[in-house]
Amino acid sequence: MRVSMMGAGYVGLVSGACFADFGHQVTCIDKDAAKIAALKRGEIPIFEPGLAELVESNMRQGRLEFAAKASRIGEAEVVFIAVGTPSRRGDGHADLSFVYQAVREIAPLLAGTAVVITKSTVPVGTGDEIENILREQRPEADIQVVSNPEFLREGAAIRDFKHPDRIVVGTEDERARGVLAEIYRPLYLNAPPIIYVSRRTAELIKYASNAFLATKITFINEIADLCEQVDADVQEVARGMGLDNRIGGKFLHPGPGFGGSCFPKDTTALIKTAHDHGVPLRLVETVAAVNEQRKRAMARKVVVALGGSVRGKTIAVLGLTFKPNTDDTRDSPAIPLITALHDLGATVRGYDPAGMEQAKPLLPDVHYCQSAYTAAEGADALVIATEWEQFRALDLARLKAVMAQPVIVDLRNIYRSDEMRRAAFRYLPIGRAGVE
Ligand code: UDX
Repeated sequence: MRVSMMGAGYVGLVSGACFADFGHQVTCIDKDAAKIAALKRGEIPIFEPGLAELVESNMRQGRLEFAAKASRIGEAEVVFIAVGTPSRRGDGHADLSFVYQAVREIAPLLAGTAVVITKSTVPVGTGDEIENILREQRPEADIQVVSNPEFLREGAAIRDFKHPDRIVVGTEDERARGVLAEIYRPLYLNAPPIIYVSRRTAELIKYASNAFLATKITFINEIADLCEQVDADVQEVARGMGLDNRIGGKFLHPGPGFGGSCFPKDTTALIKTAHDHGVPLRLVETVAAVNEQRKRAMARKVVVALGGSVRGKTIAVLGLTFKPNTDDTRDSPAIPLITALHDLGATVRGYDPAGMEQAKPLLPDVHYCQSAYTAAEGADALVIATEWEQFRALDLARLKAVMAQPVIVDLRNIYRSDEMRRAAFRYLPIGRAGVE
């Protein structure tokens, strides 16, 4: 099948490369000519395990190409819209200007019969708007507009694409349903459920899923705070809860608050949509507010660890991205944490295996270091903000030798208190007993 992908960002690139790997003929189109030129040279603008190899092999086999203009889109049977929908400045609504721009660009070029599929996360009703634009510009054409949201996690996006829990297809048109079934046919061996729903329902499934996951994380984060006060262990509480099939153990890992390119933006956009329809989602509103407060409150833990003040102290922060296996620092909890530490008079030394270039413009006052151990040099406390694999088995004796004080604040609970006790560290995890 001939597939065009509007947008060669995170979603477009991963989806385009995976569809090509399924055997489809894919063109990724992006108006950023420099990005397209780099992609043609085999340079991948984002950090995603396995993506460079996937792009390279599919380009070599002639199934994946890149273009800065949509001029040949008329040859495609399906066109995906996978451009960004960032938060609109000021009100938190999803900014749909890139989506509509892409639709206007393709409208005159589409074949007389085509299927336009939205992969970008768009508020309920956006598909109707897209349909209106296409009808206006191409009244003679038979163009179906479908919602097919993605559920890709950064760092695991290729696996998520190829082994989805479900595929959501939002259209009531039989022909379009057939086209979507054909696109995803190579996945039939793994037999993922495909659910066929209305377009609006599909659009909402995406937001409701992300808001629910964000709620689950926030729930366990608040339970972690309670655990600290009542001398209970949140890891065991989460395990005890998660073994109940109705609850499930995933997304019950406490931490410094959720971040990233999706949860903060999508919860805010859902809240706005709900308000516009006169149905305030008070639970989601609270989740968003609690999470924002939590990110900054993490600095308090460092203050407590150092006996009441960080003024004049040096703090090493390991992990600047919002989670491991990505270079993405968007809405990373490390940012408000470090900003608060600076505000409180501390000096911050930072290290991240992949995210330092992205962090630099956001956190210009951090002393960026080349390893966890260099960051720890002279530090009064070391904060683990992201659970990168390489932080899970640090040489504690080596750390202790270079630090000014043996203090670790573990915001991801990747260490055990007994090993910290043996290594004679003061240790503050989240929601369970540490070492005084
Ligand atoms: C998320 C959704 O999982 C994905 O389906 C959607 O399409 C895009 O948004 P992503 O943002 O890449 O994916 O990361 P995810 O692994 O979901 O983590 C999001 C945030 O929640 C991170 O900051 C992570 O550290 C935090 N988190 C996650 C927790 O604090 N605890 C958990 O148990 C899980």
